[in-house]
Amino acid sequence: MILPGAVLGVLGGGQLGRMFTVRAREMGYRVIVLDPDHGSPAGAIADHHIAAQYDDAIALEEMATKCAAITTEFENVPADVLARLAERVPVRPGPEAVAIAQDRIAEKTYLLREGFPTTPFQVVRSPDELARAWDAVGSPALLKTARLGYDGKGQAPVTDRESLTDAFAQFRGASCVLERRLDLEAELSVVLARGVDGELACFPPIENVHVDGILYTSTVPARVTTALTDQARDLAMSLAARLEYVGVMAVEKFLNNSFAA
Ligand SMILES: Nc1ncnc2c1ncn2[C@@H]1O[C@H](COP(=O)(O)OP(=O)(O)OP(=O)(O)O)[C@@H](O)[C@H]1O
Ligand SMILES: [Mg+2]
Repeated sequence: MILPGAVLGVLGGGQLGRMFTVRAREMGYRVIVLDPDHGSPAGAIADHHIAAQYDDAIALEEMATKCAAITTEFENVPADVLARLAERVPVRPGPEAVAIAQDRIAEKTYLLREGFPTTPFQVVRSPDELARAWDAVGSPALLKTARLGYDGKGQAPVTDRESLTDAFAQFRGASCVLERRLDLEAELSVVLARGVDGELACFPPIENVHVDGILYTSTVPARVTTALTDQARDLAMSLAARLEYVGVMAVEKFLNNSFAA
């Protein structure tokens, strides 16, 4: 058990890292934030802010020697850095889960392999694959960069071959997935926490409305049937268990007529 007074490390100093830091310090922990941004919101209130790149060897050495445990505020820190830290300090969530969550190709491939529903998609890494993906997925579709997308960034709606080629060019050849664009009846998300011992706790499923790919409203409890909220919760919890996830995680679920993805 890591008791108050111990030092916790967090990679990423944005608003989520700041919320973590506030709560951890209230509980009596000390917090070191690693974030290259000198003005990062979490760094400003941490006990110590290391302003360096996430793969900076000296910074990582300091984190590994001073921290009793290390976490990350978001999925976009290099997973191999977490893996290196995990050889010396407990890192939660684990590097394997972060590596899957930070790459749509890895994420969707994992979901398919493990039998979880996901929107029909094809991997696109080259113009050849783009053409084949278009034939397989059909229109309308969404081209999404595999990495670093959020708030609809790194996504382009495509309706014909011309918009498809333009979108891939706009992403400068970055690896992508081409996804069927579904008519969504609702979107749910489930926020849960899973402990080292496998114990799961789950908030009631949230109903989300997005406008232009950006979250616009969240409603709790979700205005869908209990059967659907139960299904969303069970799915999220079994995914967390399968990933052996430790920490807090959100799982998003699309609902449409034909199936839930
Ligand atoms: N295949 C799709 N069909 C219909 N709408 C979609 C589809 N994919 C994405 N959207 C809409 O765009 C929003 C953002 O997409 P998505 O959740 O894939 O990306 P993100 O939130 O940027 O990244 P993350 O993977 O971290 O959630 C969705 O919540 C949904 O409203
Ligand atoms: Mg999303």
